[in-house]
Amino acid sequence: MTGITVKPAAGRIGAEIEGVDISRPLDAETISAIQAALDEWKVVFFRDQQLDHASQTAFGRQFGELTYGHPHHEPPAGAPEIYTIQHRRFEKQLGGDDTKKQRSYAYAGNNGWHSDLTPFINPPAGAILRAEVLPEYGGDTQYTNLVAAYEGLSDPFKEFVSTLRAEHRYGANWNGMPRPSVSGFSQRVEQNSLVAHHPVVRVHPKTGEKALFVNPVYTDHIVGVSPIESRLILDYLFDEISRPEYTVRFRWAPGSVIFWDNRATAHIPPRDIDHLDVARKLHRVTLVGEVPVGVDGRESELIEGPRLGSEPVFSTTFFRRTEPVS
Ligand SMILES: [Fe+2]
Repeated sequence: MTGITVKPAAGRIGAEIEGVDISRPLDAETISAIQAALDEWKVVFFRDQQLDHASQTAFGRQFGELTYGHPHHEPPAGAPEIYTIQHRRFEKQLGGDDTKKQRSYAYAGNNGWHSDLTPFINPPAGAILRAEVLPEYGGDTQYTNLVAAYEGLSDPFKEFVSTLRAEHRYGANWNGMPRPSVSGFSQRVEQNSLVAHHPVVRVHPKTGEKALFVNPVYTDHIVGVSPIESRLILDYLFDEISRPEYTVRFRWAPGSVIFWDNRATAHIPPRDIDHLDVARKLHRVTLVGEVPVGVDGRESELIEGPRLGSEPVFSTTFFRRTEPVS
């Protein structure tokens, strides 16, 4: 008996886990119970936890090896596995006042749904995010179930998309809309290409479920079809993965922690606080993932870039230093 309770939060994805203090080392049974809830519900939510960088890292390590914080962002001092998400800091790094304009431009062609870091040959298996600073209102995070999105397709379409592969690229441009050029960051991305060809339908290594593994942030095009065919297929699939019936929306509170399976979900960061003068700061640890496998048993193909692992994959000289990350 682990004493934990799993309470589903929406019809097809998401469950709250109660009755566990995740800041302490967990016994094997509790770890399996959390893993089982994650396998079933794809994203799980914890409330009223007391984590710092060290205990969040220790919690994550019980579920697998952790990556270096992020390939393109500097981790806090002494916590190399932490990736701090703080939109005000990003704005400074990305060029201050122009950022809002650049963002709205970018968003015209990109609705923001993504699985993390899919341009790597081995995208993360999962991630754990905790909130430190939250706005009074706004800033929710939404998740979608990519297995449900696949299962919702008609049988002939399932068969068709299972034959396809897609190019994922850091800086993807699936619909031909011009992307904003953001000085330091764009240069860093351009100088460190990350490109992989993944199956459009990937078979989950643990559950065996099939997931629609494409997203408008990182998927650039379908391989081996014409540009217009690629755009029409992706347009359709991106609509499918973001259908409200496959999603759950999480309202953060102090002490909230989210743990998601990055192979079976996509998520969207908040788009409702950019115009508000509010702070929001969260910290993520990321689980090293495996190379995806398609329905035909074929693995993804590395086109450019290193594997994602516990060491920094690119230079640790970051593009522009602002205030120290904590
Ligand atoms: Fe993300």
